[in-house]
Amino acid sequence: MAHFKQTQKSRQVKTMFDRLSGHYDLLNRMMTFGFDSVWRRRVIEKGSLPPGGRLLDVGAGTGDIAFTALQKEPTVRVTAADFSLGMMKKGRSRPGRNRIPWCSADALQLPFADGTFDAVTSGYLIRNVANPLQAFQEQFRVLKPGGGVVCLETSPPKQNLLRPLIVFHLNITIPFLGRLVGGNQAAYTYLPDTTRGFMKPDEMVATMQKAGFESVQYDLLMFGTMTIHSGRRPEKA
Ligand SMILES: C[S@@+](CC[C@H](N)C(=O)[O-])C[C@H]1O[C@@H](n2cnc3c(N)ncnc32)[C@H](O)[C@@H]1O
Repeated sequence: MAHFKQTQKSRQVKTMFDRLSGHYDLLNRMMTFGFDSVWRRRVIEKGSLPPGGRLLDVGAGTGDIAFTALQKEPTVRVTAADFSLGMMKKGRSRPGRNRIPWCSADALQLPFADGTFDAVTSGYLIRNVANPLQAFQEQFRVLKPGGGVVCLETSPPKQNLLRPLIVFHLNITIPFLGRLVGGNQAAYTYLPDTTRGFMKPDEMVATMQKAGFESVQYDLLMFGTMTIHSGRRPEKA
């Protein structure tokens, strides 16, 4: 039954991103007021890649993190993996695309050998997968010992003075933009729904530790609505 539910969720998510792919980048910039590119640069910095190192970006979508990595660290070798062909097709129309191998892959069953990469990144992936622990376990497996994991995600709004504004942005502005730009309000009610019900930052730390990572920590961004979690595969694991 659990496996059936996982497969069903994966199918729904894949179809949704295939449909959204044409508008995804523009909507992302609008929803985050352009800050997402700053956060993606932070993700690459936190990966601490060695010169010429190998980076895997899982749930790469149209490749924002992969392209940012190449801009910031031109010697790195980046692989972009996603199960939405629509999103990757869009990414493959961008300048610099030929420097990135685009790989059709499920984040819950990565088609790479153990210990392949120096760093694994993901942006807004974990909220979408049917089994976050399994996704982190796969990232752990494909990392070299000592390699870094970095995860950019949304975070449920905290109880504070800004909460009403944040809730308004999530519940009203984002679905409105989704309808205006993409003609697809439903897909952008999915974002607030999944954000509200998603793990709190400390729960994400616990999940990453359970997957085997050490030195797990996080930064809160944009009034606590975004997080960057990072950790390391131990040298002796
Ligand atoms: C919100 S988008 C983020 C794209 C990109 N990482 C970014 O930062 O803009 C989430 C991406 O994760 C992909 N995704 C979701 N679940 C996945 C899974 N189980 N395996 C592979 N890709 C998945 C979706 O297809 C989509 O492209």
